[in-house]
Amino acid sequence: MSHILHPMRKARLQRSELAVPASNPAMIDKAADGPADYVFLDLEDAIAPSEKVQARKNAIQALNDIDWRARGKTVSVRINGLDTHYMYRDVVDVMEQAGDRVDTLLVPKVGVTGDLYMVEALVNQIEQARGFSTRVGLEALIETALGMANVEAIARFGGRLEALHFGVADFAASMRARTTNIGGLNPHYPGDQWHASISRMVVACRAYGLRAIDGPFGDFSDPEGYKDGANRAAALGCEGKWAIHPSQISLANEVFSPPEAEVTRARRIIEELRKAEAMGKGAAQLDGRMIDAASERMAMNVLVLADAIAAR
Ligand code: GLV
Ligand code: MG
Repeated sequence: MSHILHPMRKARLQRSELAVPASNPAMIDKAADGPADYVFLDLEDAIAPSEKVQARKNAIQALNDIDWRARGKTVSVRINGLDTHYMYRDVVDVMEQAGDRVDTLLVPKVGVTGDLYMVEALVNQIEQARGFSTRVGLEALIETALGMANVEAIARFGGRLEALHFGVADFAASMRARTTNIGGLNPHYPGDQWHASISRMVVACRAYGLRAIDGPFGDFSDPEGYKDGANRAAALGCEGKWAIHPSQISLANEVFSPPEAEVTRARRIIEELRKAEAMGKGAAQLDGRMIDAASERMAMNVLVLADAIAAR
């Protein structure tokens, strides 16, 4: 192992992340009572320009009125992009009026590290000025060709950054990929056309201690398509996926929770390795397969996640 290690910056259970347009207070109330690990109140692309100001007010009110933490939820606000004139007031109003009630800000269309620097500087000042003892985290959407080209530098930003998300819809648009289907597979492509990009983002996340989250799947009448996409993301190391419809929450929770058989096998791996260790051996066998210290590291990932789910 290298002497340079970047431990996980912040562990949070993020199997399912429900996107809720902040223009709709009834949907916000429903989200607070639902089964999602994470809810983000959207001020960005699900909100029409004429509704931006009211959506911001609704988000602030929902942060203040609802005790999201008592409900076991992480609550986030997706601010508008730095290329809009809404962004500075999103940060200032949300942070000044509810900065100790929101867990993270999700910054869309991050292209360069300076985008995060700007949000971080504002948040630092507002938290100081307000005397908050809480510390809001930052999450970045990688959803432009520029963001993907700079994904390693962005992941290395440090500060409050704790997760990157793959925004497949904007990414497809930015890449001019031949699709108008959010997150679906292109039948002309032999495999998953998003594989290389998700994988690239996950490597950057894991190298620098960030959580990796897969973005939306637009066809909420296709649960199997959703689960296939979620399973592919999980296979690459993502720990959760967005839900753009309440019906997708349980699908994400299912896919990103280790099944009982996997947890049992992880426990047995640890037991067998302890026995081998007592006999002075590094490797052992389990059900006809070799296991060693790397198996222990994989098993521990499963057990840590299972504990976090049990503690929820
Ligand atoms: C999410 O914002 C996306 O563009 O997919
Ligand atoms: Mg987007």
